[in-house]
Order: sequence, then C-alpha cells, then structure tokens
Amino acid sequence: MAGFRAYEQKFVNAQRIIIVACGTSWHAGLVAEYLIEDLARIPVEVEYASEFRYRNPVISERDIVIAISQSGETADTLAALELAKSKGATIFGICNVVGSSIARATDAGAYTHAGPEIGVASTKAFTAQVTVLTLLAMCMGQRRGTLSDTKLRELVTELHNIPAKVEKALKLDAEIQLIAETFKDVPNFLYLGRGYNFPVALEGALKLKEISYIHAEGYPAAEMKHGPLPSSMRACRWWLSLPRIARTRRW
Ligand code: F6R
Repeated sequence: MAGFRAYEQKFVNAQRIIIVACGTSWHAGLVAEYLIEDLARIPVEVEYASEFRYRNPVISERDIVIAISQSGETADTLAALELAKSKGATIFGICNVVGSSIARATDAGAYTHAGPEIGVASTKAFTAQVTVLTLLAMCMGQRRGTLSDTKLRELVTELHNIPAKVEKALKLDAEIQLIAETFKDVPNFLYLGRGYNFPVALEGALKLKEISYIHAEGYPAAEMKHGPLPSSMRACRWWLSLPRIARTRRW
C-alpha cells in the first residue's frame, strides 16, 4: 500500500471516488463500491471504462479515479483514465502486470501480484483485486476515522483466513464435477446474490459465458420479484390455462 501512503491525504479529503474498469475488473470495482462506502464513507461511482471514455463525465480535481486492470493494457480503461487525468483528477491504478501502460499512466497505485494470467478466466486476478481493494478501503476507513479498531482487527483476521478457505474450496472437485454433470445441458443460468454477492453473481455469470458459451445472467436476488419471478408466474398461469391436450403435447 506504498502507493496509498503517498496520496493518503488526497484519499482522506476525496469528495468522490470514481472507479473505471472493464469486465471482471469492473465487477471487482462494484465490490469496492460497497466496501469503500461502508468502511470509509466516501461516495463511489463505478463506470464501464468503455462507456465513460465516450461521454462527457463531470470530474473535478477533488475526485480520485481508480483504474482497475489485470493486464494494464485495456485500451478503454487507459482512455478513460487519460480523460479523467485531463480534467485534473488524481489517478490511482490497480494493475497486475508490472510496468504496464495503465500502471505507467497513473499517479500512484498498487500491484495485485497475482502472477501471470494463463487461462481466459480472470479468476485469481479478481480475487487479488478484491483483496487489494479491501485493504485500500480499510486504510481509507482507518485514516478517516470511520472504521473502528475492533472492526479493523476483525477484517485483518478474516483476510488471513482466506488462504485456508481457498484450500478448502479447491478440495471440492468431486462435488463440483457432480454439479457440472447434472447441469451441463441446461441452456440458461441465473446467478443470484445480494450485497457483496451481487457483483460476485455477475462475475460468476461472466465466467460461465466465457468458458462454456452457455447463456448466463447475474441478477440481484431481491430484484427477481420485480422481473423474472412475476413473468415466470404469468407464464405458469398461461401454461395452466391451456387445454390439457396442448400441455401434454411434446414440443
Ligand atoms: C474476464 C475477462 C475480461 C477482462 C476485461 C478487462 O475473464 O478476461 O472481461 O476482465 O477485458 O481486462 P483487464 O482487467 O486486463 O483490463
């Protein structure tokens, strides 16, 4: 967190934090929005860099823009941070690849040190980004006096517990294989989550789409009743209203 220490005062006085990123990194940004607002009480906006760069966003010198990127080379994220920089914002980068274009274009930053990306699915990058963003939110909360020492200690202990939990999860191969076998032919998946698990649901759906080409959507669990649930109930009622012969026919 050396990058944070150099800009500590800026973070303490920030009127707003804007996070720009794409794909998986954008999902990590959504988790960070919940974390920073909860622990440090600074308003956060999370933007798709690919949209942000093409509009005329309101940015001031008291804003901090956090650019998140595994590769550090995503053109949309680079363009978004250059735009924010031209408007006087302080740019903080969270990148994995040391010396990448985004890392070089930022005022300060923190590396995730997740190691090289081998497969398509940016899984360890996501975990590392969320970890660094958690530490950042904790540092901000502590300096701003919005995070108690007790809560801080609790969070540190939980972070220390993560490697053991990951080890445990990696031993679930047999169970995961069984689930994959059961669902392999399903054409659509809905990933549901609330709070921190909503961005995680979005990320899960993205992983399934990328790896299996199966359609998947992440959805806030409590939004189901405002969309898919009533419409599926309507579909059910319509189905039941059909004559029996129509219902029993093979489609
Ligand atoms: C997901 C994935 C993409 C990237 C996105 C941003 O597994 O690979 O969605 O997350 O293109 O890439 P970075 O983080 O390198 O800027």
